[in-house]
Amino acid sequence: MSQFWKPGTEKPRLIDDEEGGVLFLTASASSSSSGYGFASIEKQRQRLPVYKYRTAILYLVETHATTIVVGETGSGKTTQIPQYLKEAGWADGGRVIACTQPRRLAVQAVASRVAEEMGVKLGEEVGYTIRFEDATSTGTLIKFLTDGVLLREMMDDPLLTKYSVIMVDEAHERSISTDILLGLLKKIQRRRPELRLIISSATIEAKSMSAFFQTRRRRGLQDAEPALAMEPAILSVEGRGFNVQIHYVEDPVSDYIQAAVSTVLLIHDKEPFGDILVFLTGQEDIEAAVKLLTEEARDNRKSSSGLIVLPLYSGLSRAEQELIFSPTPRGKRKVVISTNIAETSLTLEGVVYVIDSGFSKQRFYNPVSDIENLVVAPISKASARQRAGRAGRVRPGKCYRLYTEEYFVNEMATEGIPEIQRSNLVSCVIQLKALGIDNILGFDWPASPSPESMIRALEVLYSLGVLDDDAKLTAPLGFQVAEIPLDPMISKMILSSNQLGCSEEVLTIAAVLSIQSIWVSSRGIQKELDEAELRFAAAEGDLVTFLNVYKGFLQSGKSSQWCHKNYINYHAMKKVVDIREQLRRIAQRLGVTLKSCDKDMQVVRKAVTTGFFANACRLEPFTHNGMYKTVRTSQEVYIHPSSVLFRVNPKWIVYHSIVSTDRQYMRNVATIEPSWLREVAPHFYRQDGPDPMLH
Ligand code: CDP
Ligand code: MG
Repeated sequence: MSQFWKPGTEKPRLIDDEEGGVLFLTASASSSSSGYGFASIEKQRQRLPVYKYRTAILYLVETHATTIVVGETGSGKTTQIPQYLKEAGWADGGRVIACTQPRRLAVQAVASRVAEEMGVKLGEEVGYTIRFEDATSTGTLIKFLTDGVLLREMMDDPLLTKYSVIMVDEAHERSISTDILLGLLKKIQRRRPELRLIISSATIEAKSMSAFFQTRRRRGLQDAEPALAMEPAILSVEGRGFNVQIHYVEDPVSDYIQAAVSTVLLIHDKEPFGDILVFLTGQEDIEAAVKLLTEEARDNRKSSSGLIVLPLYSGLSRAEQELIFSPTPRGKRKVVISTNIAETSLTLEGVVYVIDSGFSKQRFYNPVSDIENLVVAPISKASARQRAGRAGRVRPGKCYRLYTEEYFVNEMATEGIPEIQRSNLVSCVIQLKALGIDNILGFDWPASPSPESMIRALEVLYSLGVLDDDAKLTAPLGFQVAEIPLDPMISKMILSSNQLGCSEEVLTIAAVLSIQSIWVSSRGIQKELDEAELRFAAAEGDLVTFLNVYKGFLQSGKSSQWCHKNYINYHAMKKVVDIREQLRRIAQRLGVTLKSCDKDMQVVRKAVTTGFFANACRLEPFTHNGMYKTVRTSQEVYIHPSSVLFRVNPKWIVYHSIVSTDRQYMRNVATIEPSWLREVAPHFYRQDGPDPMLH
């Protein structure tokens, strides 16, 4: 392990210049947490910085088509503004107030908090909707939902008529769905002048957002609402953070998980009470760190006694989420190890120390190789500042950056790149097409995607048979694919299973692909996990293996013990059953007849190929190291070690996704016959293009 600073021995440096770092001004002496757990909910609400702006916000929303609210994380934007709107009557007369979030977990967490503050049952006046989960009722007045779900709602109700106000929250994250939503809402506004938009975020270049929403007053509108200003209003909520001391490592660290764990122990040993928030990248990292800390607790009682270690990532069960938000018991110190969900979406009370690995998991798409990767990549300075800010909510805090100051100053990018500029656009294009936006390149984007990515997406959609020669959705296939809330490749696979007579099997595969993993985390139990996987492993690959696991789960009577014994994640399997049921209903509505192909896996593989032909790969015959090349772009890829086909290396496969570490690894693969490629995608593998057979 690399060298470390030693808290206490090194002089802490307070960095307050723009060059170097962060200074959070103390604007108000009172802290919301001074009364945490004691003050009445009403008192807590009134102490939030946003409370002072209640009247201003309501006035601006009343008089402006668009209001941009910028305010430090934790100032109360998400939980308070929808309540203010409701109190002011924006939910009267059957109208609904919507608040979107990029993350599912944040949707659930804020909805449950607001229901609690209002003293109502979640799902009634305050509800939420995320994909495959709807907790709303006809009486819902405030609805939290992901930006992706709101986009889907537009397919049935293009003008989103039931909403009086739509608050697009966390706009600074610039998720792909947020960007599409912003473009579409701008269009809707012209048709529905009574609709109010609130764009809110922690850090936003409010000016560029404002320029984006600058709309010309249309004729007729003047008469409709003469007092309505079309210029967006900008409101900045004064922050209330405390000073945060920034510490950097002296030398780069080689293993940030180990470094994070050591730093937790150092803080616990040397620093006064206060919770610790650690930013790692994903479930695997986080579980590894939790395990290391738990082992430490076992081996060395003294150094870690009093630590409560909790993971935080999407896919946690509700019970696990509640632990995160519950106050830390006296004499204990909570350590929350999180993805960047805790960067701005969620506020944890009581955090005084932040450990920032400097990384997050990000999507990157390369239109030349046509590969979308999930990569652990460096964060931006803007993110680093946000992360540090989490330490200053309750009282002055400290942030330990697991990278050097030199790196921060000279190498970190100032801002992140909007997701739309680093994503595969297949889903995005089909959604816009389904909403009747034909000229996608000419669409009014907050940030334009690259024409190359757009062309790639159009090409794949054309080959899937969902777009015609004029780039319009085909009937019925194109419309049906758009109707299913999944990646178009998976939707196509489901629809084609109808003719192939294997819809039962394919629905199961689609459901499993919708969740992260059905296996328990592999950290430290790789051998046991491999053995368990072998019990279900199918020569046809991971997708067929899922069918064996699903069958076993049903035969066990959906038993949690059975899952435990087989290293299968019980909660994940319950979700699979639930998602599958919803997909079954959608598929049947679209005319898919339920049919099982029994043991004929040939047809299942063929259905998979009709969806995933664009991800076909061939084993390189002479390298003997398991190297594959993508058929279309000859990119070097390998089967992921977690796959049942790792080291088996069949000649022809398709993959579901790619993760990048030292190499590009294919996750969830299935064997195919090469002759199927031209059969199912003649345009994609056309005669004058690369011949899959001749590689
Ligand atoms: O949206 P913004 O970051 O401005 O703040 P918020 O999410 O509305 O949070 C306002 C306050 O509510 C913070 O003090 C949070 O700690 C608290 N809160 C909570 O205790 N539990 C939640 N599930 C959500 C928020
Ligand atoms: Mg918020």
